[in-house]
Amino acid sequence: AGPVTFATLAARKAAREAIVMVTAYDFPSAQVASAAGVDIVLVGDSGAMTVLGYDSTVPVTIDEMLVLVKAVRRGLSGPMLVADLPFGSYEVSDEQAILTAQRFVKEGGADAVKIERGGTSVERARALVAAGIPVMGHVGLTPQTAAVLGGFRSQGRTAEEAARVGHDAVALQDAGCFAIVFEAIPSAATEAIVPLLHVPVIGIGAGPATDGQVLVFHDLLGIHDGAPARFVKRYAALREAMIAGVSAYADEVRSGAYPAPEHGYGMPADEAARLRH
Ligand code: KIV
Ligand code: NA
Repeated sequence: AGPVTFATLAARKAAREAIVMVTAYDFPSAQVASAAGVDIVLVGDSGAMTVLGYDSTVPVTIDEMLVLVKAVRRGLSGPMLVADLPFGSYEVSDEQAILTAQRFVKEGGADAVKIERGGTSVERARALVAAGIPVMGHVGLTPQTAAVLGGFRSQGRTAEEAARVGHDAVALQDAGCFAIVFEAIPSAATEAIVPLLHVPVIGIGAGPATDGQVLVFHDLLGIHDGAPARFVKRYAALREAMIAGVSAYADEVRSGAYPAPEHGYGMPADEAARLRH
């Protein structure tokens, strides 16, 4: 089918074919996403939590994100690669945003970057696109700035709030974003906003009215410990499978069942005989 391009995404929306996006943070997860035939792989700053163990996305640095992006680039064939710009790496000025995004494109090999919020991010998006860097927007629940949203709660629960989300989305589209993520927005609000947009909308906890869906790799495969968010559906239970595998290995090492003869290397019989003298 060839690599996924911006034209592919526009064609998917026009044909009402759902766009599939998933996060990945390393070489094997990028290979898995490629083999599964998804359209877009996002190196989300959710990696701060899923693979780096921070308790929010706020602390992750540009350099930490770049390690993840480069690993994904090496494992990816087919899907478009989008990289999240981390908190504090783009908000100050257009110049800061361009310098940061250029690193994700030049060093990381990203096809596009994603930034959060409307407001000042609209100007940043416009500047990035003018500098030749494709931008994905992200509205609704924006985890980098959850503190000013009153915490991790859905956004657009009143008509006024939904209108604000819609206003931000349209502003990001007008700034040149090629697609917009809608996170944790009531399904009815999404349904009202999507017709205002001609660019694809990718939802996570935004209901079925979007042009596609995105989930976090570790959430959908059940690699996480703990209760997932409402919008997560688990398609596998890898954490249990991994614990079972490592436990079986530990048991066999302790019992002596592993390693068996077939796991060892041979030696010519005469050389083995000479060892005994
Ligand atoms: O970081 C992330 O994983 C994201 C998606 C949830 C959209 O931003
Ligand atoms: Na993110």
